[in-house]
Amino acid sequence: MTAEPPERFMDRHDRFTGRVSRSDSPSPVLRAARASDLSELRRLDEEVFQDFAYPGFLLRQLFDMYEEHFLVLDDGTGRLCGYVLAATRALGPDGWILGLCVTEDRRRRGLGWKLMTEVLVRLRRDGIRVVRLTVEPANLAAVLLYRGLGFHPEEPDDGLRPDYFGPGMHRQVMRLDLNVDLPGGAPS
Ligand SMILES: CC(C)(COP(=O)(O)OP(=O)(O)OC[C@H]1O[C@@H](n2cnc3c(N)ncnc32)[C@H](O)[C@@H]1OP(=O)(O)O)[C@@H](O)C(=O)NCCC(=O)NCCS
Repeated sequence: MTAEPPERFMDRHDRFTGRVSRSDSPSPVLRAARASDLSELRRLDEEVFQDFAYPGFLLRQLFDMYEEHFLVLDDGTGRLCGYVLAATRALGPDGWILGLCVTEDRRRRGLGWKLMTEVLVRLRRDGIRVVRLTVEPANLAAVLLYRGLGFHPEEPDDGLRPDYFGPGMHRQVMRLDLNVDLPGGAPS
């Protein structure tokens, strides 16, 4: 599958931005995560992922390693309502999405899309050519979001990896090829 140019991400990003502004609550601000967000990030991660939330010490170290690709949605009151985290390989032009979430009360307003498009644009700007992620095959919301962005299952076996995170924790691996040589380059 051909990668969708970031220009198209941004077209849809604008469309989603319009939809968000029509909601009752003010649009949260998308910004880079800060060290001072870590306790709030932990709360958010536990709220959404519960038993699968990152331990606090790991979240701290992920922030230290990958803060350029760690973005949050700040609702303006000090409360975070979403984040995306991407990790990059030290010795190769590829990266992984390690976390994406939006709080339940803010879903279906284009915010997951907005987080993903922004981090993909930044990854492409920073020379990353392939982005992978894992998703629980039954997580339809996430699968449809990723497919819409151009991710496709990584072969073999349609990306399905039984027991990927341990017994019974099956995942699908998806990938997106970011073509850094597209005419016009990535928007900054
Ligand atoms: C997955 C998640 C981040 C999506 O966030 P969101 O802000 O609700 O998503 P968006 O509003 O940006 O939706 C973008 C597209 O994703 C798909 N989508 C999102 N939620 C969906 C749902 N509940 N059902 C069907 N499709 C859905 C749609 O294609 C949607 O486009 P559309 O609105 O034009 O149909 C959010 O549901 C979430 O945080 N889930 C819990 C954590 C999680 O599963 N994270 C991913 C781990 S791999």
